[in-house]
Amino acid sequence: MARSSAKAAIATLLTVISFFLPGVFRYDYQLDNMLVVNQTGYETCIPNEGYIEYNTGEDMIQLAYGGNYFIGTATPGDCWGGMKLAINALAPDNKD
Ligand SMILES: *[C@@H]1O[C@H](CO)[C@@H](O)[C@H](O)[C@H]1NC(C)=O
Repeated sequence: MARSSAKAAIATLLTVISFFLPGVFRYDYQLDNMLVVNQTGYETCIPNEGYIEYNTGEDMIQLAYGGNYFIGTATPGDCWGGMKLAINALAPDNKD
């Protein structure tokens, strides 16, 4: 139950972010940072070796096609609380 509601919250967050701010992340850089991790880091909330840290408070990220995983901050409690985001950037649809 808790897990599915966390997933729903993340899905909502993903929708909101992709609708309003495609690829742009804004936050208070004095309180938070943002880590781009791989799937293992995303699932365990432990940043994997080679993670990328952003801390400007207004980060623009070029999304590669395929899975992209983001953790809102390096604070584990925040990650377990659901403050993380997975983005699956799809290749453009040729029919458009
Ligand atoms: C994530 O990175 C860690 C450390 O480099 C590695 O051990 C792990 O296999 C990676 N996970 C995935 C899903 O690539």
